[in-house]
This record gives sequence, structure tokens and C-alpha cells, in this order.
Amino acid sequence: GSHMASTEEDRFSLEALQTIHKQMDDDKDGGIEVEESDEFIREDMKYKDATNKHSHLHREDKHITIEDLWKRWKTSEVHNWTLEDTLQWLIEFVELPQYEKNFRDNNVKGTTLPRIAVHEPSFMISQLKISDRSHRQKLQLKALDVVLFG
Ligand SMILES: *[C@@H]1O[C@H](CO)[C@@H](O)[C@H](O)[C@H]1NC(C)=O
Repeated sequence: GSHMASTEEDRFSLEALQTIHKQMDDDKDGGIEVEESDEFIREDMKYKDATNKHSHLHREDKHITIEDLWKRWKTSEVHNWTLEDTLQWLIEFVELPQYEKNFRDNNVKGTTLPRIAVHEPSFMISQLKISDRSHRQKLQLKALDVVLFG
């Protein structure tokens, strides 16, 4: 619940992670099981081989609750990324350097990435001003990847 999020930024990230968690938790039992993450990684994220990804996600945990997902996110390196770290990711990994200024203007940091990962349209279109649909999709998938897998 909302007790997990203390700042406004946290609140946005928590909402985004709750959406991702819901998308992954197919049987709606409150946890993400290995088969669920496997399917999500292959079908929604379009990875051919999900093995490394879901073993990273699950480690010893076969049932990932929203609290687990949130705790991991808060203690991940990506959560700590500065604007400069995030720009480096945008330029080198996403390969969309043309949005550097948009990211700068909006001070996009690690804590902003969950909002991109869920493809929040008001944020992606109105604030970041990314009008190209395929660019938004690419950014969304790459953001989802770093938010879930680091
Ligand atoms: C993130 O930053 C906090 C506060 O500076 C620090 O305590 C923590 O170790 C950092 N986490 C990682 C994974 O680097």
C-alpha cells in the first residue's frame, strides 16, 4: 500500500511497479511465479531466451509480491542513477541520443524510469515530448528491462 511510498517520486514509481506487477501476475494470486515471469519476458518483452532474466529476477524467491518488487527496486543501483547516468543509458543502450535535451529538461533520473517502463502516456508524450510511437515503445521496453533486471 501507500505506506511504502514517502515522496511524490516514490508514489509515481510505486504506482508504476504495481501496474507491472499486475501485468506479470497472471493468476492474480498476489505473487509472480517463475512461469509467469518466463511468459512475460518472452511474450511481452520479446526475449527469445528468458532463462537468465528470470533467474536474475527470482533468485531464491519463487513468489514475488509487490512488496518484494518494491524493496528490490529501492535497493537497486538503477534506482540511484543520476541524470548523467540515465543519459548515458539513453545514448548508449537505448540508442536514442536525440532525446538527451528532453531528458535533461525533465531531470529524468533512475527514480523516473518506472514511469517510462509502464508507458505512462501523459509523461512520455506531454512531458518528455516523444511523439514517435516506435521510439516510445523502444524506450518503454529498455526501461522495463533495467527496472526489473538492473
Ligand atoms: C543508493 O544510494 C543510497 C544512499 O546514498 C546508498 O545508501 C545505497 O547503498 C545505494 N545503493 C546502491 C545499490 O548503490
